[in-house]
Amino acid sequence: MEHKRGQWSSELGFLLAAVGSAIGLGNIWRFSYMAYENGGGAFLVPYLVALLTAGIPLLLLEFAVGHERIGSAPLAYAKIKKNWEWLGWWAVTFVMFGIELYYTVVIAWCFKFFLFSFDLSWGADPNNFFFKEFLILSDGPSTIGSIRIPIFSALALIWAVNWFIVYRGIDKGIELANKIFMPLLLILTAVLVFWALSLDGAMAGLRAYLTPDFSKIAKPKVWIDAYSQIFFTLSLGFGIMIAYASYLPEKSNISKSTFLTALINSGYSIFAGFATFSILGYMAKSQGVEISEVVSQSIGLAFVAYPKALTLLPGGNIFGAIFFLCLVVAGLSSSISIIEAFVSAIVDKFGFSRKKVITIVSLLGFLGSIIFTSQGGLFWLDIVDHFLTHYGLVVVGIAECILVGWFFDLEMIREHINKISSIKIGSWWGFLIRIFIPVVLLIILAGDLYTELRKPYEGYSWSSIIFIGVDWVLATLIAAFLIASRPWNTARRHEGGRADNKG
Ligand code: ALA
Repeated sequence: MEHKRGQWSSELGFLLAAVGSAIGLGNIWRFSYMAYENGGGAFLVPYLVALLTAGIPLLLLEFAVGHERIGSAPLAYAKIKKNWEWLGWWAVTFVMFGIELYYTVVIAWCFKFFLFSFDLSWGADPNNFFFKEFLILSDGPSTIGSIRIPIFSALALIWAVNWFIVYRGIDKGIELANKIFMPLLLILTAVLVFWALSLDGAMAGLRAYLTPDFSKIAKPKVWIDAYSQIFFTLSLGFGIMIAYASYLPEKSNISKSTFLTALINSGYSIFAGFATFSILGYMAKSQGVEISEVVSQSIGLAFVAYPKALTLLPGGNIFGAIFFLCLVVAGLSSSISIIEAFVSAIVDKFGFSRKKVITIVSLLGFLGSIIFTSQGGLFWLDIVDHFLTHYGLVVVGIAECILVGWFFDLEMIREHINKISSIKIGSWWGFLIRIFIPVVLLIILAGDLYTELRKPYEGYSWSSIIFIGVDWVLATLIAAFLIASRPWNTARRHEGGRADNKG
């Protein structure tokens, strides 16, 4: 039996859901850390260049393709060119059965830390607490060790919430959740920012965050980091934005939604960075040390440096609870979008009952996540994340530019956008999609591969890199080809797009 496609109840609902998908764990601490690592205020230059030259044009492409072709990623691509269906399956598969699996585990950590905040359970040594008591980290990815029950039980709860929201449907589930989550997130973040700004030492922290160190801007790594951050943060190459835009009504302001989503997402990242750096400045000041000494690596920033600062801060338990609640809320609104992108693809192709698919996919997702709750989980997370974000998302980005830019009528897509949107898109967009973005992304990919082959990522053994990282990329690719080779059980594949239907 074929199911009617769901719809957003309003364009605002769609915008909030797209923003909800974009704003995630990546915005709150990954962005701040990246900015600091890559030259403070100087990072904003490559970041904004990446946003304007790749982020916004690709987001526009994904929204427009989803809306015009009316389909999830595999369906939209199949309607563009039959034998490119695999690309859509690959995107939604490695995101759902790769990124989502560890993403939900990090949300589970955040939830536990939300609870720990109330009595500052991490004590005087948050580093020891996080690695030795909470994760009980093994000595490497090949030692999986046992499952950490506290993380496992929080994970079960996170999956139950994910399931519950997506199960309720597009408008009554995802849209409603984001209508609650997004304003809540904004208010909580504003409380943190203003509170942090009032602390002694905050200004020194902000100086570290915003003072440009232009000596770093010439380094290729800064540019690679800026482009990959934009990909991750705007959920590009995930198949999400395509599916979300397919649920929009015929008349929808596509270009306005694109600019707003991108603007709100990046604005939020920069804003949240104020809280992080003010608090680090406060900590440096109270301990009489330099900011650089209190900033640790990305994961450590949220689960080690932050807790340390909270211990020193009067009312630190409340501050901590709000901070970790923000992470949970931001994380959930992104993780439900990942599930939806996959479910939407399966329902489009096989016509199965949406509710049954959601239940099965959530169960499988939960089971798949368990490996990341083990003592070796952090190493697995690190390797899988590196390979899927660098060789999955970026490759999908290049492929979608080639597919739509070279094998399809990009001009027709542009006309479709311009017909229904208030902000008209010029021919510059075609140049970016057809030439500029694929070339830049190919250079990034080549640079990445070169570094990769010279020495194993982060010093892990080659066998762990191949068994965990490379295999994850290959296994999902094979799965994508297999699913794409199955026949369509629905008539959707032959329905064409909105522009064709008008003949
Ligand atoms: N866009 C989401 C994030 O930044 C996936 O976390």
